[in-house]
Amino acid sequence: MKTLNDLLENNRAWATKINASDPQFFRNLSRQQSPNYLWIGCSDSRVPADQLVGLPPGGLFVHRNVANVVIHTDLNCLSVIQYAVDALKVKHIIVCGHYGCGGVKAALSNSKLGLIDNWLRHVQDVMEKHVELLAAAGDESQCVRLLCELNVIEQVVNVCQTTIVQQAWERGQELSVHGWIYGLEDGLLRDLKMSLTGRSEVAGSHAAAVAAAAAARADA
Ligand code: CO
Repeated sequence: MKTLNDLLENNRAWATKINASDPQFFRNLSRQQSPNYLWIGCSDSRVPADQLVGLPPGGLFVHRNVANVVIHTDLNCLSVIQYAVDALKVKHIIVCGHYGCGGVKAALSNSKLGLIDNWLRHVQDVMEKHVELLAAAGDESQCVRLLCELNVIEQVVNVCQTTIVQQAWERGQELSVHGWIYGLEDGLLRDLKMSLTGRSEVAGSHAAAVAAAAAARADA
């Protein structure tokens, strides 16, 4: 039997270190969680949600999938959003994409990888929606960057259109939805200027964010 002793040893060292600085840490955290943020990000191993925003365990409620896609019939993602908003009462939902996303690249090049092609079809829908902006983006690398950004912008809208977020806003619950993108090459997050706090802001904010993303690529 193969065991992953190195990882288990890392875990013991990690827990020991935290216990040394705060002996009550795990006991307190085991009683409840009250994160302020829901993170919806890519499964990519290079985008570690908690670490890159400097939050300890308990800080982020997390959902990750390939290419950070939010689909209206994905019960997995919807269940995470519903529990985060209705039960945990998170104040912010962050959709975070990243440059160099393999899922976005595969969608753009129409690669045939198997089952996942069906999942990435949703990114191809984003691509087709913005085909003219993408054509004007410049070379292939600029095109990938723009589609990574546009994908986040569209998924933010999808989050806002869920019954869960719509109902939270209707009952006056404090809840913002944000679109960010992470740079693998510099470790930095960029705000895509999609920070929405109510239904009436969605259309205007979407148009402005799309225009800003396209203009940034055209200037690059
Ligand atoms: Co990715």
